[in-house]
Amino acid sequence: MAAWWLIAWPVATFSNVASHKGHFALTFVHMMGGTGMLTLGGLNLYLAARKQHYRIHRRVGQGYLSFGTFAALLAGWLAMTPAHKAAGAPVLTNMSVSLLMLATSWLACAGLGLRAARNRRFASHGEWMIRSYVLVWSFVFCRIASRIPAIGELGNGQAFIWLSWVGPLLVCEVLLQWPSGARKPVLKANAADQ
Ligand code: HEM
Repeated sequence: MAAWWLIAWPVATFSNVASHKGHFALTFVHMMGGTGMLTLGGLNLYLAARKQHYRIHRRVGQGYLSFGTFAALLAGWLAMTPAHKAAGAPVLTNMSVSLLMLATSWLACAGLGLRAARNRRFASHGEWMIRSYVLVWSFVFCRIASRIPAIGELGNGQAFIWLSWVGPLLVCEVLLQWPSGARKPVLKANAADQ
């Protein structure tokens, strides 16, 4: 909430139009899309955890996927074109490639999550959607981290833009996969030996 206040509120109240001169509409859409995805994704995880209201879950999920696909395509386009870059500045930079990979990773996770739901593999569906939601949060982590000077200087300022989404995804993966590597129950282990 504090992060939203710090980052999105100035855009929502039009109070920093000057600092996004020429592309404020895009910034506004970006802010709305990000806020929508954080809300809808969080709501859907909550509904899934309570195993309730699957009809609403489907609708909310469709909203999340629509917002997300639009936002990821927009981010990918911004990363690969001169829009939102200083005149004459290089188009493909460390930051834009990281953004492109983040958008691609979100599309992959969300796409695999949707495919699994369509094929009624709900355990896999849940895991892919959790990964996609962690990637949505990395936008927020990245913005918060960029305000901490020591983090911004990591690896000459090159590392943190990757760390801000690869790091949370790695932690998420460890947590998701932890149960699948657990010690086998003794009885089952004996049966497998025979
Ligand atoms: C950000 C998180 C999530 C999103 C965006 C999401 C999205 C969706 C969508 C779009 C559908 C409809 C798919 C279709 O058109 O057939 C769906 C169905 C479903 N999801 Fe999720 N999902 C999320 C998390 C989860 C989790 C964690 C679980 C639990 C394992 C889960 C369980 C289900 C089930 C059981 C259905 C089928 C509902 C039905 O057929 O009535 N979802 N989800």
